[in-house]
Amino acid sequence: MTREKLLYLETFGCQMNVSDSEKIAALLKGVGYQPTQDPSQADLVILNTCSVRAKAEEKVYNHLVQYKGLKRKKPGIILGVGGCVAQQEGERLLANVPHLDIVFGTHNLHLLPELVRAAEKGERLAEVGFIDNETRLDLFPVDERTDGVSRFVTVMQGCENFCSYCIVPYVRGREISRRSADILGEVRGMAGKGVKEVTLLGQNVNSYGLKSSGEMSFIALLREVSLIPGIERIRFTTSHPKDFSQPLIDCFAEIPKLCRHIHLPAQSGSNAVLAAMNRGYTREEYLGSIARLKAACPSIQITGDIIVGFPGETEEDFQATLSLMEEVRYTDVFSFIYSKRPETKAAGYADEVGQDEKQGRLSRLLDLQRRITLETNKSFVGTVQQVLIEGESRRGGQFYGRTSGNRVVNLAADVSLVGSIVNVMITRGDQNSLQGELCR
Ligand code: 5AD
Ligand code: SF4
Repeated sequence: MTREKLLYLETFGCQMNVSDSEKIAALLKGVGYQPTQDPSQADLVILNTCSVRAKAEEKVYNHLVQYKGLKRKKPGIILGVGGCVAQQEGERLLANVPHLDIVFGTHNLHLLPELVRAAEKGERLAEVGFIDNETRLDLFPVDERTDGVSRFVTVMQGCENFCSYCIVPYVRGREISRRSADILGEVRGMAGKGVKEVTLLGQNVNSYGLKSSGEMSFIALLREVSLIPGIERIRFTTSHPKDFSQPLIDCFAEIPKLCRHIHLPAQSGSNAVLAAMNRGYTREEYLGSIARLKAACPSIQITGDIIVGFPGETEEDFQATLSLMEEVRYTDVFSFIYSKRPETKAAGYADEVGQDEKQGRLSRLLDLQRRITLETNKSFVGTVQQVLIEGESRRGGQFYGRTSGNRVVNLAADVSLVGSIVNVMITRGDQNSLQGELCR
């Protein structure tokens, strides 16, 4: 009998990559590779990479250097790089990293079994061609992915917004929507296996279906998913503020299964910076959408992304971002120091903000957000929240789940409740999570 082959898969970056890694694991299971958590045991190591910021990209190169030693000890091991860095670098990666065997781009996941088979025979290959049709989004085994009560479902990929700082349109390509029949089929399959919550995933979900003739809109898709028995919660990410329409806002009031959380990245609170970023909305328009959303759904929890230190950002612009954050009162913000990315329009912008200034702005922003997050978390104390129990914490006897507003709650429960939505009295609000007690 041949020994079972082992795959060690490292994922960097965003939820799209997490979702792609699930697909990679399922595809490679089909050709005999089982997952391992120990790279020294692996026969195949895959790095699924992110290049949205320079730091993320550097991390990939550092990890690749670490694998050089492993490859020397165990020459038969196959090393592959996929995702956005692979897309960006292509053949260059193979040329620059002699111990690398496979490079596969963001549109080429489905070719991985073939690439691995060739690498097993000693070949070194790169596949980074863009495939601009929707079939490539359906070339994956659907039902074999990891277990769990909450799962991602890709609805579209790519982005054509060309925000001036962003590399995504170059490494993920044109917007392509998956066929709704396939999405709904996948969600029904998941529901049949006990999945309770799905997150519809796309770089820009508002564009779902707009470029495919005869396809339904994103809102129609949300409504269809909400009709699937067994699915109790629906989330989606990411939505672009410029396309955040009233009909979508109405969904939060009208679709009970739609969770009371939205991730709506503002990036900046200054109109001058928003224009230079090519975001397609003003501060006033963004805040107007937030106000309408809060009116339609008062319990909505809002999270966002902010970039500090975009070229030309003045202290006044930065103050406008802080005041926007105060006005929105995000429950959480992902904040980033601007990072110059190849090919993007902003890479050619003058007036760069100094590194110390960027760092200083980031820490002021983090201080503000920490205060708002803690105040928000404390404001839940004494309320009853519906919590979907997702699993057991590493601390014994403690379980964790999330509220509809996407706050993490820790509580004493038992394993029979995993996968159930239960009423929980919130007893404490900490910086990163809530503590609660089951209501019996
Ligand atoms: N520099 C810093 N942050 C960036 N993001 C995207 N591109 C850059 C960049 N060049 C951030 C944005 C986006 C999130 C996924 O990453 O805030 O919403
Ligand atoms: Fe990048 Fe803008 Fe597209 Fe988001 S919407 S992926 S920030 S180009």
